[in-house]
Amino acid sequence: MAELTSLNLISKAADMIAAAGLTVVSTGAGMSRESGVRTFRGEDGLWREYKAEDLASREGIRKNPELVWEWYRERLKACEELEPHAGYHALARIQNEQDTLPVITQNIDGLLQKAGIRDVIELHGNLRTASCMNECGAPNVRMTEDLFKDLPPRCTCGSILRPDVVLFGEQLPQQALKRAFRLADSCDLMLVIGTSMVVYPASSLPLIAMRQGAQVIEINPEETPLSSLDGTLNLRGTAGTVLPEIVKAVFG
Ligand code: OAD
Ligand code: ZN
Repeated sequence: MAELTSLNLISKAADMIAAAGLTVVSTGAGMSRESGVRTFRGEDGLWREYKAEDLASREGIRKNPELVWEWYRERLKACEELEPHAGYHALARIQNEQDTLPVITQNIDGLLQKAGIRDVIELHGNLRTASCMNECGAPNVRMTEDLFKDLPPRCTCGSILRPDVVLFGEQLPQQALKRAFRLADSCDLMLVIGTSMVVYPASSLPLIAMRQGAQVIEINPEETPLSSLDGTLNLRGTAGTVLPEIVKAVFG
């Protein structure tokens, strides 16, 4: 059961943010839940209703490209209609006040950018563009309504296009991953928000941070494998409530 987040914990987190040299944020699907994005795991998680291997793998796209593209069309439409919640604006405020706040995310929903947050490191790709399944070298294509007129959309070479999200079994974008590791290795504080901490390598970032002496704050209504580690400050609440409280405590 989620406990109430005590004022003491909020003010402790606020002190840590105020004192830290470099704070880095790492977000997962739970960050967007209060904006209306479904998480992958948990009660109404996407992976309970859909099979990841059907929708988020190269094989799935090859077998049933129409189905996969309909799914991504729906996700894109849903994401475009959503608005960032108060927790997103709180992160934007920290970034504005402190100048630097790199945000590493496993999310592809674009809500961080919509909230005006800069320096977003997307580990699992994005829903903005698509590219050739056959990697023919044609430039990436923007995902607009036009692209969905005839499903599945095709590259100029005739091959099927795939969304530029990381599919199961694929490598993560190497530059983003390198930067994420470097940030974990050099930050003073990491805020880990709304991730179940089960998907590697994102799940290793707070551990790397801890190992080099950084402090870690977890914001999540549920426990994760990170919660019980010595040195994690656990804020058991939702991103949309906890983050604005922290920001109020730091900046007034
Ligand atoms: P999960 O769906 O695994 O976990 C969501 C987490 O968010 C859980 O720990 C919830 O308790 C927490 N949560 C729920 N509501 C919240 C709220 N309002 N505020 C804060 N936290 C909340 O999502 P991820 O850990 O992001 O990969 O999943 C990682 C990856 O698994 C995804 O990026 C995706 C998926 O397979 C790919 O598509 C490559
Ligand atoms: Zn092509």
